[in-house]
Amino acid sequence: MLRLSQLFDHESVITLAAPIDEHAVAHLSAAELAVIERAIDKRKREFATGRKLARAALAALDHPDVEILNGPDRAPIWPSGIAGSISHCDRVAVVAITHAAHGTVGIDVEHRDELKRELWKTVFLPHEIEALDAAFDSSMRGRMALVLFSAKEALYKAQYPRTATFMGFHELHVAITPDVRDPSRGTLRCTFQNDVGAIDREGFARASVANGRFQLEATPGAEVLTSVFIPR
Ligand SMILES: CC(C)(COP(=O)(O)OP(=O)(O)OC[C@H]1O[C@@H](n2cnc3c(N)ncnc32)[C@H](O)[C@@H]1OP(=O)(O)O)[C@@H](O)C(=O)NCCC(=O)NCCS
Repeated sequence: MLRLSQLFDHESVITLAAPIDEHAVAHLSAAELAVIERAIDKRKREFATGRKLARAALAALDHPDVEILNGPDRAPIWPSGIAGSISHCDRVAVVAITHAAHGTVGIDVEHRDELKRELWKTVFLPHEIEALDAAFDSSMRGRMALVLFSAKEALYKAQYPRTATFMGFHELHVAITPDVRDPSRGTLRCTFQNDVGAIDREGFARASVANGRFQLEATPGAEVLTSVFIPR
């Protein structure tokens, strides 16, 4: 199990990663097992590794061991006072959690080399495609497109606990800024293109911004890792 320290600014966020563990299923509770009883083995291993990491992250926050089920919307149900996010691919699972009083988090991992150009129009705004073409040469463009896609999923997971609202890919603009000294990591600026949720309560007004980070090759099998933190 690896603790990742550079994906969130906020020191209270615990971020853990681990290879998919075929033995993790044995540690699920009966209710957690029921969530995946009809799933294929790959899904079971990924779900169970995510739960294993979630328990370890809760322990790191001195929180008692609890089962983590999913709601009918598939979002994980965290214990009261905790905000968290889970992601997995066929090689790696990652979890980020924090105290809900500080904010909400989103995390996403991708184990593939790039997002193919034929998919760009479906998930990116015209400005995002222009920025990818202008900022990155052909050797990096597909990989950075995957960062952009992953960032949208991370933002979605961070906003959902506050709004319970679905967002389409064109409802968010993401700008990527690689670190000058180390372009394998950098920052993400996520701008809402529409009002999302009830903006007089926990929702987000059009043009509001949430910040995140990306990291390439953070662990073996995690070609792209993105994170978003939305403070309270
Ligand atoms: C929810 C979603 C982002 C998950 O991404 P994914 O690539 O399928 O899978 P990941 O492994 O990265 O994440 C899966 C985890 O996301 C979490 N998740 C699912 N729905 C969620 C929601 N509504 N809110 C927060 N987290 C959610 C779950 O913990 C799930 O793991 P688990 O079932 O083992 O508990 C994706 O399925 C989806 O619905 N996307 C459409 C909306 C979207 O991305 N819009 C982008 C524009 S902002």
